[in-house]
Amino acid sequence: MTAGAAPGVRLYEVGPRDGLQNEPGVLPTEAKIALIGRLAAAGLREIEVTSFVSPRWIPALADAEAVAKGIERREGIRFGALVPNLEGWARFLGAELDVAAVFVSASETHNRRNVNCSVAESLARFEPVIEAARTAGKSVRAYVSTVCGCPYEGPVAVAAVVRLARALAALGADEISLGDTIGVGYPRQVRELVSAVGEALPLSRVALHAHDTFGRAVANVEAAFEAGVRSFDASVGGLGGCPYAPGASGNLATEDVVDLFERSGIATGIDLDLLVDVGIWLEDEVLGRRLPGRVLRAKRGERERENRKGRT
Ligand code: HMG
Ligand code: MG
Repeated sequence: MTAGAAPGVRLYEVGPRDGLQNEPGVLPTEAKIALIGRLAAAGLREIEVTSFVSPRWIPALADAEAVAKGIERREGIRFGALVPNLEGWARFLGAELDVAAVFVSASETHNRRNVNCSVAESLARFEPVIEAARTAGKSVRAYVSTVCGCPYEGPVAVAAVVRLARALAALGADEISLGDTIGVGYPRQVRELVSAVGEALPLSRVALHAHDTFGRAVANVEAAFEAGVRSFDASVGGLGGCPYAPGASGNLATEDVVDLFERSGIATGIDLDLLVDVGIWLEDEVLGRRLPGRVLRAKRGERERENRKGRT
């Protein structure tokens, strides 16, 4: 952690939501609550903890209310959740979280597969949700998915992304998160996309949500940072994916982006060693398998080598 420096970027942790929604097994609620507590202790200040979507569509997050009830609320930490419609909004409000996140795809087919309606219908659903959220004093985040490519339609027009970002900002979303849902983006594309979105709204309201399918998430983060983005979504250990996007592998690992920025002298406010502890705990005590995050793998290997040396 860059000692004493005010964070130069915001990291929005999505592991407990984007990560766990894609787990083949359903984790015990207590493990999810423990994960969120450990992430907060490592310095994460914005954590997406669950989804108020249909439990039939996403069974892994069916315990959304219980998770929200169980997490320890701490001063300065904001907890968010996905909200697809008014039914989800009522659940979110009851759970007393801070950031309501709506989501829509830049490609019609992915939107239909993900939420069973057209892009225009999604926007119409969001209007009363965003209005209610603002009236209740909640922050609103809006994801635009498939911004760098769609698993069903292939290339996605920059203009479609810009149109949606503008529409969501006009509806009242505080932050628009650009989702490379299947991790096909590359740095030049991300730079051009960010510049185009930046013509429509201030980049202080824009985040990048990268997946690491092709190993370019860190490069894409750097490209977006250079283009002016200061808010990045990431998932501990690289856990995650979208169940309605075939081929969507893990999210950008939080340790990878923390390491990237801290080494570049840009403070994140996150303690990398504590975050690595969380990853190792998840691997050993919760999931029983190794996670894909590169920095987690490297740091774990380093610790194992040191332990062996200490024993000889
Ligand atoms: P639907 O089946 O079209 O909904 O689903 P419906 O309105 O026809 O209702 C059908 C049933 O679902 C009803 O129950 C409703 O009450 C219930 P029944 O009468 O049959 O018993 N229902 C709900 N239950 C609980 N909470 C709700 C809710 N809404 C309806 N909010 C729906 C439409 C949107 C609900 C469904 O398609 C859905 O839940 N989809 C969620 C898919 C999802 O979560 N995908 C992953 C997240 S997106 C992502 O990962 C991308 C992201 O990370 C960014 C990126 O990477 O790009 C964000
Ligand atoms: Mg995602």
